[in-house]
Amino acid sequence: MDIKKLLAQQVQEALTDIQLITDKPVTVRPAVRPEFGDYQVDSMMALGKLCGENPLVLAARVADALMKNSHSRTMLARAEAVAPGFINLFLRDEWIIDLTGQAANDERLGVARQNAQHIVVDYSSPNVAKEMHVGHLRSTIIGDASVRTLEFLGHRVTRVNHIGDWGTQFGMLIACLEIAENQGDISLSDLEGFYRAAKKRYDDDPGFALKARAYVVKLQQGDAWCREMWRKLVDISMTQNQQNYDRLGVSLSKDDIRGESFYNEMLPEIVDDLLARGIATMDGETAIVYLDNYRNKQGDPMGVIVRKQDGGYLYTTTDIACAKYRYQQLHADRILYYIDARQHQHLMMAWEIVRRAGYVPEQVTLEHHKFGMMLDKTGKPFKTREGGTIRLAELLEEAVTRAHKLVSEKSPQLAAGELETLAEMIGIGAVKYADLSKNRTTDYVFDWDTMLSFEGNTAPYIQYACARITSLLRKAAATEGPLPETFSGTLSFSTETERALAVKLLQFEETLLAVAKEGMPNIMCHYLFELASMFSGFYASSPVLTHQERSRRQSRLALCALTGKVLSTGLETLGIRVPERM
Ligand code: ARG
Repeated sequence: MDIKKLLAQQVQEALTDIQLITDKPVTVRPAVRPEFGDYQVDSMMALGKLCGENPLVLAARVADALMKNSHSRTMLARAEAVAPGFINLFLRDEWIIDLTGQAANDERLGVARQNAQHIVVDYSSPNVAKEMHVGHLRSTIIGDASVRTLEFLGHRVTRVNHIGDWGTQFGMLIACLEIAENQGDISLSDLEGFYRAAKKRYDDDPGFALKARAYVVKLQQGDAWCREMWRKLVDISMTQNQQNYDRLGVSLSKDDIRGESFYNEMLPEIVDDLLARGIATMDGETAIVYLDNYRNKQGDPMGVIVRKQDGGYLYTTTDIACAKYRYQQLHADRILYYIDARQHQHLMMAWEIVRRAGYVPEQVTLEHHKFGMMLDKTGKPFKTREGGTIRLAELLEEAVTRAHKLVSEKSPQLAAGELETLAEMIGIGAVKYADLSKNRTTDYVFDWDTMLSFEGNTAPYIQYACARITSLLRKAAATEGPLPETFSGTLSFSTETERALAVKLLQFEETLLAVAKEGMPNIMCHYLFELASMFSGFYASSPVLTHQERSRRQSRLALCALTGKVLSTGLETLGIRVPERM
């Protein structure tokens, strides 16, 4: 149930009832304080101004019309106009109870399936032959949380891992592979070292560089052996990356790989088309598109090269082709890109060309869900002590080691196997959550201590709340017998805390919708943190199993059970695992 939308519709209806027709959308948001009700309308201020009516008077008329509407009255106990023109909406207890009961009985927890769109999501996208480092973490996990959320809402999602598997660097790598093959060792267990050695040799040894360049040409011409070596490099590299994905619990598989090389054959045709239609022009041997919206320092339109003098294509040309492909071949309704903020201008320019050429129609959105950098505690880019990049595999190992230490101190009674599993869930969960819980558009400070804390907006805190509820329900099953099949008739409120918890539980759907729209999992983190905190408050102040009245025990257990399900489903949409006990 999307309460926000439902209420907005009713306010819209109330406006029609008082003969005020507006095409301005009405916005309703959860109230920030209990005295403001459950939801608040703040559109009357602007609307009053627009039609020359005192906003408070208008708010009062709308509130009145709302409460005259029998449909709204089933949902609302009260609508109250307050200065300077807000309308405070108070939901009816019976309505909340009814809906909470329905959510508790529903395997989707009351969340409606959306009209399915086909959404293509480009994420992770590391470069081949380099090991994944912390720089790839953000795209990988924010993208994956977004994908999981969209799928939960009922959309069809195509994951695309747009790996960097093409370019001149393959010449030097193949030249090195040739040597390695002659020595009979191409396992490439140390891919990073292999890459560095190739680069060094390329820079230092002119003979080698010559050979490397010759291999680039051969590879591009489709030479069978070069292709085979190239395949080998891509395979080895992606097999290693898959280990990171698996450990992270990221839902990417080898089938989702559509690297840059995939679009290669489409590039000549695209540049020809751009030239033929006058979108691109030739500047000597170079094909360029001039963009009026981008000006250089001299105030002239900036040019984007789509084909180099030597006939080579660029990263931008590939992104033009891939947007076209995602619409024309995959029939996407919406296309999302989880890429570093530093590539924003690149994408905007590529898409401007895409739009001008009409490759993707306006109604299909191309969205750059950008994110900032990962910084250390001193505000510098997150690096090893020696200033190198931190390997992702190493970071994950450290997370689990740290979690292991924490858990063995906190729960020494756990059996070794259980401890291991728990450390994995908590360590990986903490790293993921720390990133997901920040607004992705800003840089983010990586700090082991806060992310692994059991207090505050962290994975362990929410995982712990889940485990606590599971344990409570286990106990209840022993003393109370099985929980009722259906909760209808079970729920009732005896305190404000219970009521507030129920309202919060009903806001799960609007939270999912917000994450899906903005591609911002931090909205879900914030919601889960608030829910877990409310639950803590409720649990501390309201006896559940020790209450004398059976009906009260049952009602509270029902709330606990639904809270547990919403918390764990919420964590699942973030790609974070939920322990049975902690
Ligand atoms: N491989 C690129 C990088 O590491 C990211 C690719 C993102 N996707 C895209 N369609 N450009 O910077």
